[in-house]
Amino acid sequence: MSKHRVSRRQFLNYTLTGVGGFMAAGMLMPMVRFAVDPVLKANAAGDFTATKLKVDDITKEPERVDFTFDQKDAWYESEVTNTAWVYKNEEGQIVALSPVCKHLGCVVAWNTDKKNPNRFFCPCHFGLYEKDGANVPGTPPLARLDEYPYKVKDGILYLGKAKPRKEA
Ligand code: FES
Repeated sequence: MSKHRVSRRQFLNYTLTGVGGFMAAGMLMPMVRFAVDPVLKANAAGDFTATKLKVDDITKEPERVDFTFDQKDAWYESEVTNTAWVYKNEEGQIVALSPVCKHLGCVVAWNTDKKNPNRFFCPCHFGLYEKDGANVPGTPPLARLDEYPYKVKDGILYLGKAKPRKEA
C-alpha cells in the first residue's frame, strides 16, 4: 500500500488553496486589464486613418465620409468603420464632425429635415445642430457634436479620434 496517503486535512487544504487561487486569478485579471488599458488607449489616440477624400474635393457642403481602421484591444482585433461629416468653413478650414448625437447616441445627418434646412438632424428625438456642430437650444442634445482632429498627407484627408469640442 502507498505511504503517501492524503489525510482529510491535507485534502481540504489542497482543495481550498486551488479554489482560492482560481478565484484570485478571476479577480486579478480585470485589474490587470484595467491597468494596461490606458496604455493601449494612449497609443490608439495618436493614430490617424486615411479617408478616400481628396482635400481639394472638400466643399462648403458637409459630405458624409466613411473610413475603416483596425482596432486592437488587449485580446481582440476588429475592423471598425467610422463616419464623419466633412466640409470647409467660411475661413476655408476643414471641419470633420462626428455623426453621433450627443443626446442618446443616434446618428445625425445633414439637411434631412425639410423644416430645418442646413442643419444636422437627429431623427430619434428630433435633435438639431447648426452646421458648425453647435446644438440648437430647445432640442434634446445638450452638447456640441464631437470633432475629429485631422491631418493632410499627399492631398488626402486623414482623421483621428473624435473628441468633444470646447464651447465656442
Ligand atoms: S438621440 Fe439624438 S435627439 Fe435623442
